[in-house]
Amino acid sequence: MKILITGGCGFVGSNIAFFLKKKLKNTQIYSLDTLIRKGSKSNKNRLEKIKIYNYKIDIADNGKLKKLKKFDLVIDCCAEPAIEASKKDPDRVFNTNLIGTYNILKKCLKDKSNLIFLSSSRVYSINNLKNLFKNKNFKKPIKRKKIINETFPTSEASSLYGFTKLASEKLIKEFFFKTNLRYIINRFGVIAGPWQFGKQDQGFVPLWLANHFFKKKLNYIGYGGHGNQVRDIIHIDDVCEIILIQIKSFKKINNDTFNIGGGVKNSISLVELTNICKKLTGNNIFFGKKPKTSIFDVPYYISDNRKVLKFYNWKPLKSVDQILKDIYLWLINNKQVWKYFK
Ligand SMILES: NC(=O)c1ccc[n+]([C@@H]2O[C@H](COP(=O)([O-])OP(=O)(O)OC[C@H]3O[C@@H](n4cnc5c(N)ncnc54)[C@H](O)[C@@H]3O)[C@@H](O)[C@H]2O)c1
Repeated sequence: MKILITGGCGFVGSNIAFFLKKKLKNTQIYSLDTLIRKGSKSNKNRLEKIKIYNYKIDIADNGKLKKLKKFDLVIDCCAEPAIEASKKDPDRVFNTNLIGTYNILKKCLKDKSNLIFLSSSRVYSINNLKNLFKNKNFKKPIKRKKIINETFPTSEASSLYGFTKLASEKLIKEFFFKTNLRYIINRFGVIAGPWQFGKQDQGFVPLWLANHFFKKKLNYIGYGGHGNQVRDIIHIDDVCEIILIQIKSFKKINNDTFNIGGGVKNSISLVELTNICKKLTGNNIFFGKKPKTSIFDVPYYISDNRKVLKFYNWKPLKSVDQILKDIYLWLINNKQVWKYFK
């Protein structure tokens, strides 16, 4: 089998590439990545050592994309994933996240390749998510009873990032309609783990830990600056496991959409994240408070994993403590990545 991982030198793509290389025999894995994300060159060098080749091509460049060889499966991990880019660089978000999907789909159709698409919890409408906690001032911790399933509303605004993900999902269904090709769409919550080069607007978990590690300040932004906003976090190893299971059961389970995340057990507020980082590093850093936040921010998201559990008999295994511990060990053991956080 030949697999193309787009965004293969990014955090998720490179981890999946390493994992599948170990787990799948008689399989050739290729990456497509223009290496725009910080740290992606590092990942490219690591992939080359295990003989995974990267095509340095912009996914929006159909002329180059269509000349690539034929693949049996595409795992689409290529995106501008920072939600704030929706405001700062909308053209890039649109071209990479939507035109990129369009180009990949044309290639899938021509080559008869199946597709696993990495979508996002960000497809859900911002106002509907905000309304879950109407009239709260967020001074106290939020109760974690609400979980978001695949039927949660998507029709209102969700940022350009969220729109391009949702539009990509719809495009996949259009292209694969009445064909024998198979697709899976996974709407992930926050993914975290080693080899994630986190920054302010994307990948906050490693950023939080690194700033403790390097004794740099952080801010609690939004919701009064109390740090009580909540997300669920899934370990990248759990993401790799479910992708492998999906590949192996593609014939039986396909053409469907799943919410996948850490769930209630792996949900955490920023204040709780700070406490874990403090304990791991032994460092107590300065926190600023910025009460106001971006228009795209939401106070709460926890994935409902019941559908993915029912279909695949799978659930995430690694705890938030384990995720932070693994990122901490990665930082300690890889001094060459410090430059990306310092
Ligand atoms: N990390 C998360 O928490 C999370 C959560 C939900 C969904 N996702 C989705 O998972 C996928 C992977 O995310 P990630 O965290 O690994 O992001 P990432 O930024 O680490 O990886 C994306 C990769 O795509 C490459 N890229 C960007 N624009 C490109 C272009 N025009 N052409 C070719 N390559 C390009 C980048 O260089 C980078 O290596 C994305 O689709 C993202 O939307 C991520």
